[in-house]
Formats: sequence, C-alpha cells, structure tokens
Amino acid sequence: MAPKYRVGVIASGRIAREHGRGWAECEHTDIVACADSHPEALASYAQDFNVKSTYLDYREMMEKENLDIVSVCSWDPQHAEMTVAAAAYRPKVILTEKPMAISLGEGEAMIIACKRNDVKLAIGHQRRFFSSWTEARRLIADGAIGEVERLWTGVRAGMMNTGTHGIDFQAYAMSDCPAEWVMGSVERKTDHHIFGHRVEDRCCGLIGYANGATGVIENELSGKYMVGALLYGTKGMMDVQGNSLKYMTEDKAGWQVFDPPDKEDTGYGNAFVHQAYGICEWIEGKVEDYRGNGEKGKAALEIMMAVYESARVHERVQLPLQTRANPLDVAVEEGRIPVERPGWWDERSFLVRGEGMSWMKDDK
Ligand SMILES: NC(=O)c1ccc[n+]([C@@H]2O[C@H](COP(=O)([O-])OP(=O)(O)OC[C@H]3O[C@@H](n4cnc5c(N)ncnc54)[C@H](O)[C@@H]3O)[C@@H](O)[C@H]2O)c1
Repeated sequence: MAPKYRVGVIASGRIAREHGRGWAECEHTDIVACADSHPEALASYAQDFNVKSTYLDYREMMEKENLDIVSVCSWDPQHAEMTVAAAAYRPKVILTEKPMAISLGEGEAMIIACKRNDVKLAIGHQRRFFSSWTEARRLIADGAIGEVERLWTGVRAGMMNTGTHGIDFQAYAMSDCPAEWVMGSVERKTDHHIFGHRVEDRCCGLIGYANGATGVIENELSGKYMVGALLYGTKGMMDVQGNSLKYMTEDKAGWQVFDPPDKEDTGYGNAFVHQAYGICEWIEGKVEDYRGNGEKGKAALEIMMAVYESARVHERVQLPLQTRANPLDVAVEEGRIPVERPGWWDERSFLVRGEGMSWMKDDK
C-alpha cells in the first residue's frame, strides 16, 4: 500500500532522526521534504532518510510541498514561531517537539493558530506510547493501587527538558487529571540555558491535582533520574522508570513486574513509530482524543511555568495561570533571581553546528 500522507520535517537535527524513524517505519507516511538552515545537517538527513526535496527555508518548504504532516524539531524557542507559521499552510497535523513552547502565551498562540486553520496539533511527549506507561494508566484507572495520593518525579538536565516528560507522565497516569495549584522553588546562580532559553540550576515543585493527589517534580536535587514517577496510593504503590513498570498491591506480596506483550517493542525509538501510527489514526478519526494533543502539552507547560511563577511571587499559584510570559525570564529581568556567577552557558551547546541557528541571532 502506498503511503497516504506527505510528511515534511522542519529542523533536521538529533530528534528529527527519531521522528524520521517513526515516519519511515509507519506504512502510511512518507518523508517527502525537510528543511534546515544548516546545509550539512540538511544534506545528511536527506541522505539518511532518502528525502527528495530539501530547503534552507522552512516557509518555502511549506509553500511548495502540500504537506499533510509537519514535524517541528528545532530548539524550544523556535517551536511557537514555526508551529504558527506552518499552521497557516493547513497541513492535517503538526507534531511539535517538547516542551511545547517556552511561555504559556506562546503555547496558547500555537493552539489558537492550529484551531483557526483546522490543523491538529500534537506535542512530542512520545513516551505516552510506552506500553508500561499505558499499562500504569490502565491499572490506576482500575483501582489497582487505590486512590493515588503522592507522585514523585526526580530528573536531571532541566525541568523543561527531561522534566516535561515526567510531569506529562503524572497527568497521563491519572487519566489526564488536571492540576489546580503549584508551589515551587528555583535556584539559579549561573546564567544557565538549555536548548536556547533560560532555565534553573535546580528547582522543585509541588503540584496539587484535582483528584486530591500531590505530585513532586524536582530537578538536579536528589541525583534521581526518573522519566516516569514513583506513585503511592491508598492500596499500593507503583514505580515507572523509562519503559518499565512494577507495582505492589494490598492483595499480593512483593513487586509485580509488568511483562510487555512484545519484548522487542520496549525501546526508546519504538515510541516514535507508535506516535506516527497514533497520529495517522487521529487524522482518520479512529481516535477522538489523541493522547499527546496540544492541550495536554499545554497542561505540562502550564505546570512548569507555574513552578517558576511561584518562585517569582513566593506564593502557591492557582491554575489556570494568569501570567503568559515566562516567569523565570521575568524574575531574572526584575532582579528577583540574580545571577551570582555571570556568563551565559547552554547545556546543549555541544549540538550547535554554526551561526545558522536562528535563535543565536537574536540575543546572543
Ligand atoms: N521528545 C524527546 O524525547 C526529545 C529528546 C531530545 C530533544 N527533544 C527536543 O527536540 C528539539 C530539538 O533538539 P535536538 O536535540 O534535535 O537539537 P539539534 O541541535 O540536534 O537540532 C536542531 C536543528 O535545528 C536546526 N535549525 C535551527 N534553526 C533553524 C531554522 N530557522 N530553520 C530550520 N532549521 C533550523 C539546526 O540547524 C539543527 O539541525 C528540542 O526542542 C528538544 O527539547 C525531544
């Protein structure tokens, strides 16, 4: 069967290669074009994924290629601009990498632009397709560990980087239960950036969910690195790390370990293939509520912005968040979180190929 959907990839760096695998292995999709401002990145991607049309300007790609699906795989500060620009060309779906954006205002603008142009917006929280994550959600919905009371996620390398997956997991595990309040704290002594935007050196946040559960997100504090969470319920507990799941229930002694039906299917990259199929099913109306849609990406973004806002205003922040700017930027610019050891640095600077990256032109 010939692939039905024409895919274009904006920004052909590291994560674009995972998207590339997803689109290439999905029988309904064909990567027909890619765009990158860096000629070498563009050429090597086109060669490795057998892509016929290449563009240095992604708007030109959108103009000429009549795309059904667009992957946005650039650094975080470019997600909003690229998604809003791509939406105007009315592909069926835009899949934008995580974090959705670097402020709530940007995230809202992306959702509005997609709605107005009748475009489905997906966010790259692809771990929602891990079999262990989905099984954890099912078990919790079935009451296996009773009412969830506490969730704990510890990460390294940035709340808005790996942390967004952990926060997204907490919501996913509880059937996308909304958060109602956030209390957070931030340490930022260096002028720390990741993927081109300001981040904390360390932070932690308490998240109050509508079902009464409280979640913890901590970054660079305990040395833990869980892309998942420990969950404590009234009748048991659960440990989800990467694509693995074990749990204890009150009726059985010891850990029960989830045995995935397909053991070949547990790797990091496989989630991108499932994500590709999931998006095709969404296009075809086979799923109403796509598991990684823009609203769910916005829920994780809002929690992260609320951690920063709470640290800025020193209070428990009620959601929906009213502050649309990035509160960490505001706090730093207001002098509330002074940098004590000056000098801009970016944890992901090892990825930079040259000055072609547009985020570098503005403020560096
Ligand atoms: N979902 C996940 O698990 C996951 C994992 C890693 C990274 N990410 C996300 O993926 C995104 C990209 O990260 P990466 O590691 O692939 O970065 P990368 O540096 O490897 O790739 C970025 C690419 O964007 C290109 N680019 C820059 N400006 C451009 C422009 N104006 N037009 C077209 N192309 C442009 C660069 O030349 C580069 O090739 C980030 O948002 C990151 O948070 C997600």
